[in-house]
Amino acid sequence: MHCWEKEAGLTRREFITACGTLAACALHGGDVPPQAAAAEDTRERDPFLGTRGVPLEIGSPCLQSPGETTMGVSWAVSGLAKGVVEYADNPEMRDAKVVKSGGYGLVPIDVDALQVRLTGLKPATKYYYRTVTIPFTDYSNIYYAKLGDPVVSGVHSFTTLGEGAKAHFCVINDTHAQWKPFQMAVRKVKELSPSAVIWNGDATNTTQDKKTAVEVFLNPPVEDSDWSSDIPVFFESGNHDFRGSWISKKEEVVLPRDPSERRGDQWDLKWNFALRLGDMALVGLDTGEDKPDAHPKWFGLANFEPYRRAQAKWLEEQFARPEIAAAKHKIVFCHIPLFAEPSSEDYPHDGVAIDPHDYAYWSRECNELWGPILDRTGVKLVVCGHRHRFRFDPPTAERRWAQVVGGGPELGFDHGVPDSGRFPTVVEGFIKNDKLRLVVHDVLNNRTVLDKYL
Ligand SMILES: [Fe+2]
Ligand SMILES: [Fe+2]
Repeated sequence: MHCWEKEAGLTRREFITACGTLAACALHGGDVPPQAAAAEDTRERDPFLGTRGVPLEIGSPCLQSPGETTMGVSWAVSGLAKGVVEYADNPEMRDAKVVKSGGYGLVPIDVDALQVRLTGLKPATKYYYRTVTIPFTDYSNIYYAKLGDPVVSGVHSFTTLGEGAKAHFCVINDTHAQWKPFQMAVRKVKELSPSAVIWNGDATNTTQDKKTAVEVFLNPPVEDSDWSSDIPVFFESGNHDFRGSWISKKEEVVLPRDPSERRGDQWDLKWNFALRLGDMALVGLDTGEDKPDAHPKWFGLANFEPYRRAQAKWLEEQFARPEIAAAKHKIVFCHIPLFAEPSSEDYPHDGVAIDPHDYAYWSRECNELWGPILDRTGVKLVVCGHRHRFRFDPPTAERRWAQVVGGGPELGFDHGVPDSGRFPTVVEGFIKNDKLRLVVHDVLNNRTVLDKYL
């Protein structure tokens, strides 16, 4: 240690950080200049320097992007931490395997959320798991970093998907970070205990930072904040899930599909899914934003038209997969409806023209690109949201698929005016007597608004 470094009573780590301060002190005859004090404040506030004695809090684990042999786990953390997931075939966690975050090379750490993907699992198999999170109390420099005490979650479980899994799904949509209707919906989901949930868009409003996304997707301030710890969740973006200066990074909070499911040329189809759940094939698509790409509101940031065309190609390929083609009940999920009756008030607002309403009630472009494929491949049902009002469109001779539109977050009011048609829903699908049974639950009034075999 240098003599004056020793005199200043500094450790080497502090010295490296404080070096500029000392130099500045010398220049200013020993007084600490204002800019040095400001630098010290920044060091104290920067969460990437470590938790610095503040106890680490973690959120309940959230199961994301489930597959037949893979499962994503994401969870919220309150400060700089690393994390692993331990999983086993027994609730006592005997012979548990330990999986780190990330892929090869450096293991990611973060101050807001950690993500681990389990791979090499058996299809339609129950596993038990828990998260182990260890804070970096100090990470001013890797050579002198210090770890705190591990925080171990409770043991949770999941069952992987596949032809042998129970064909039972639920859909929530348009929750818009409205916590009262969100709690109603997730309470119903827990009660119904499906094999998987599809969160069908507009989870968010406008997302300006990661902490907002963590609250929405991982750590909601509701009683049943652990709703996705034992039920895996597929995510499909709604138009609002593309809004805000941070939102292009949402994969840091919502794990995309496993890379093995995506070819290089389809890399940007991050959350599209097509897989078997018992006799069902579940297929997820992304309708994107609700105005044309050239709309001045997008400031040139929208590139959804080629995205929808790429998904048409992807969709053709998915239905050509033997296990998807062979499924008795094919169901598609996407946020914006693919159809509106020509006689309805929705019909003129098709997302193609820049119209006075300024948003689409349905997507003509997606209908034209995807609709013929759905007809040809025998899709029975399309599940949508976006409209904030439940409705069911039965199939016709020209359109062989039915469409169900889930409700939004409004609790019996529309802009302050009582409206009994405004209620949040959970859309449920399962197989009964070899048929697809569709049940729509109104979670505001605790009633069933649709119960139908398709
Ligand atoms: Fe919405
Ligand atoms: Fe929407």
